[in-house]
Amino acid sequence: MSWRLYFFFGHLSVSLSSSEKFQTLSSILVSLANITTTKPREMKKRPHIKSYSFTCVLFSLISVLATSVALAMDLAPLEDQDFINAPPERVELGRLLFHDKILSGNRNIACNTCHHQDFGSSDGLSLSIGEGGIGIGPERQLGVGKNRVVRRVARNAPGLFNLTHKSNTVAFHDGRLVKSEDGFEHNTEGLLDSRLASLIAAQALFPMTAPDEMAGQQNENIVGLVVPSNLNEAWKVITYRIRNLDGYWPLFKAAYPELASAQDIDMPHIANALADFMDANWRVTQTPYDRFVNGDNAALDTQQQRGMELFFGRALCASCHKPPLFSDGQFHNIGLPSFGPGKLSGGGNYVDKGRALVTGSDLGNFAFKTPQLRNWAFTAPYGHNGAHATIEGMLEQHFEPKQTARAWTLDQAVLPQQSDDLTATDKTPSYQAHQQPNLAIQRIVLSDEQRDDLMAFLETLNDPATARGNLPVPDEVPSGLAVD
Ligand code: HEC
Ligand code: HEC
Repeated sequence: MSWRLYFFFGHLSVSLSSSEKFQTLSSILVSLANITTTKPREMKKRPHIKSYSFTCVLFSLISVLATSVALAMDLAPLEDQDFINAPPERVELGRLLFHDKILSGNRNIACNTCHHQDFGSSDGLSLSIGEGGIGIGPERQLGVGKNRVVRRVARNAPGLFNLTHKSNTVAFHDGRLVKSEDGFEHNTEGLLDSRLASLIAAQALFPMTAPDEMAGQQNENIVGLVVPSNLNEAWKVITYRIRNLDGYWPLFKAAYPELASAQDIDMPHIANALADFMDANWRVTQTPYDRFVNGDNAALDTQQQRGMELFFGRALCASCHKPPLFSDGQFHNIGLPSFGPGKLSGGGNYVDKGRALVTGSDLGNFAFKTPQLRNWAFTAPYGHNGAHATIEGMLEQHFEPKQTARAWTLDQAVLPQQSDDLTATDKTPSYQAHQQPNLAIQRIVLSDEQRDDLMAFLETLNDPATARGNLPVPDEVPSGLAVD
């Protein structure tokens, strides 16, 4: 039995050291189910174990018990009441703002340029191309002349589905913004207005002041100029622009009847409306999986149900991808190869150390937030840097973390076609992540049939009806700027 126990404790100790909070009881139960259901063939190879059949029965019992307790504990459905559900006037205002390039320093990029309806609220690229770029999706290029993009964005634009659910309290791949009962935790804490109504409203402030995303460079426009010294000033400049666009005032008045004049519009009104729009637009709660946990037994066929057992059982997926959102809100290093411009504060160029940048602890090295999984089919490439363009690649990363990272080559990512794009150095893959002691996943062996079953279950987390959002893209926006 020793290898099985090793596996169990191996998994457990890794989870404990790599996550900042203890894994919950359900994860331990899932692990228990795993020891007991792993590789019955291996047991048969060892007939000298006298207590074989007794052990088998005992462990099968624990397995059934553990799996059913884990399932019973975890499978709470997603309820609409747990989202923001703002009045339609606020959603409508947010819809226009989300598609309006007026929020960017150089008036050349909107939220939807990188979170686009054609790419499942993401952009189809491994690493986003910010302001100055031309086009959308994988075709987006780096631009020309003085407007050309200066630096590649260091991370993948994540899908926005269900981010406004009340149980989601950490934003960004590294969780550098947290909503707690006392307000927000972020390194600009003092600047975060208490009128910001939700995590995602506060999150919405930051792309506007990121030079490579929306703000632009210091010598290009006033927003870009003031960003390095004063974020508040940058948000004010954007607010003045909105106050002075006649088209917006009636929309703000309808959304916030308490406003007396356009001069009362402030950044929290803008940010809250953006969150209200994302809440209504990128909500997905009626996948086949959701119908199944709501009692419709026919929503999943038998293969999908077998896959579901694997997901919650020996494939261990649910120990991190926890329902109802399929994320535990924690950070794990799954060994994705690093590439891209990285984050300078990480102790060296071209490295993105993830959670460690926020906590300063080695336990967070290369650890990133567990992403939610609903509508994954529309949000490729996968991972914090989009290292895997396909779901198969991403699953291989989970099944064989070290080997997959070692064998990885740049052509598994989706990068712009331009041959001279940005620096060659930031395209050089570096392989540290899978060699770190905090690697949170270990090799898992599944048969081809089991892989097919697991994939069949993963498909049940998608709802194509919501892939392009629940609301139409506006034909035009109050600034008159073009809509991507
Ligand atoms: C240049 C492309 C780009 C633009 C423009 C952009 N984003 Fe993003 N967005 C990203 C990237 C990349 C990330 C991940 C950043 C990170 O985690 O460090 C992100 C993260 C997010 C997240 C957090 C997701 C999570 O799981 O925590 C939200 C919400 C979001 N963006 C909303 C917006 C809104 C609202 C706007 C407009 C104000 C916007 N974005 C503009 C690329 C972009
Ligand atoms: C130890 C925790 C952990 C376990 C166990 C785990 N995952 Fe993940 N998963 C993650 C993290 C963390 C990421 C993001 C990694 C990154 O960005 O560097 C991720 C990413 C993914 C993604 C990509 C999603 C996206 O939008 O980018 C998919 C799909 C996925 N996991 C599926 C699975 C499946 C299926 C299983 C079970 C075989 C599984 N995961 C097991 C932590 C885990």
